[in-house]
Amino acid sequence: MQILQDKKIVLGISGGIAAYKTPELVRRLKEQGADVRVVMTEGAKAFITPLTLQAVSGNQVADSLLDTQAELAMGHIELAKWADIIIIAPATADIVARIACGMANDLLSTLCLATTAPIAITPAMNQQMWHAQATQDNIAKLTERGCLIWGPGSGEQACGDIGLGRMLEVNDIVTLSSDFFADKYLTHQHWVITAGPTREAIDPVRYISNHSSGKMGYAIAHAALRAGAKVTLITGPVAISAPTGCELIHVSSAEEMHQQALKFAPHCSTFVACAAVADYRVAKIATQKIKKSSEAMQLELVRNHDIVADVASLKHKPFMVGFAAETQNVEHYARGKLMRKNLDLIAANDVAKSGQGFNSDNNALTLFSAIDKTEIPLASKQIVANHLVSLINQHFLAKQDS
Ligand code: PMT
Repeated sequence: MQILQDKKIVLGISGGIAAYKTPELVRRLKEQGADVRVVMTEGAKAFITPLTLQAVSGNQVADSLLDTQAELAMGHIELAKWADIIIIAPATADIVARIACGMANDLLSTLCLATTAPIAITPAMNQQMWHAQATQDNIAKLTERGCLIWGPGSGEQACGDIGLGRMLEVNDIVTLSSDFFADKYLTHQHWVITAGPTREAIDPVRYISNHSSGKMGYAIAHAALRAGAKVTLITGPVAISAPTGCELIHVSSAEEMHQQALKFAPHCSTFVACAAVADYRVAKIATQKIKKSSEAMQLELVRNHDIVADVASLKHKPFMVGFAAETQNVEHYARGKLMRKNLDLIAANDVAKSGQGFNSDNNALTLFSAIDKTEIPLASKQIVANHLVSLINQHFLAKQDS
């Protein structure tokens, strides 16, 4: 069943240019099974018509506190009680300020005051208005009261400015909505996850690295977050965005990743080593760009610390999950690493197969413990990660019980 199945969502639309994206947002929420009722401010109607929203939501749009007909159908108090969540998208500086002050001078602000449902605010405004102290104070006040603040994103704005203040993309809002309702089975757990490649410098302009995109590790971070864990993501250089809500630690070399892993691991419940860490680094990094001087050249390499093995040898070691990226004899090599590195579990992927592994959007894993193995079939990395996180938790709980 989809996580948003039968969830009752009030979508509050206020008067910003991003309102033009809301019919798509309604469609996507409904595709996920949600029942969506739209409430519009007067300003919103300058950007998009109630008729459009009525057509896509399949429900009458509410836009007035003082409309006797609308009050007969589903009155504002009834609507406030009906909602499982109120999502305000776009949320202008004005509606943010009015909700923060507890005003009830239109239908949307009144609903926010009359509801016990959680309120998610997806800000959308000019970057200067977002940074204004008044807005920041209002956002701080709403956060303190338990409102969810989704975004804003950064980038080019309708007014031509560049900066923070764009409404999150529709996909991101739908993802955050289903994350909100997801089963929070990892509450009170802290996961530290390594992801992406490392870069081992040769000289100031060159390095040794690999094809890891970070997609697998980031998907695991997202899956753990949506299940309610606190997540620290230690990441090598990648070109993708981290999931909202994790503590993000950027590193470049294996040595930096090693340092950060040893700093955070002693305080976590579960450590997942998904990073593709360079086994070797250059013995002596040239301080100046190396010039072509002969037909051949040699680099002396020295072994890097084994990060996951060093974390597993801590006195208070967390539940340890490693990865094995293999091109042959997958089970044999994976089981060898499981034992040698003193891990609880190892997730093996066959990176010789096309359409999975490094830099692909999909993956397939086999999860080995000392005594059993479980296949996670080929699927998007997010689906694989959701499955993996749930399996890791089952093994974690079983170890605690034993
Ligand atoms: O990032 P993507 O493009 O999404 O690709 C995902 C992935 C293929 C990188 C991922 O699924 C994966 O397999 N990650 C582990 C890659 C790897 O380095 O595997 P390994 O078999 O060489 O290492 C075994 C384990 O030891 C891994 O958990 C690794 O993080 C860890 N290790 C390795 C070397 C080292 N110096 N320190 C380590 O901690």
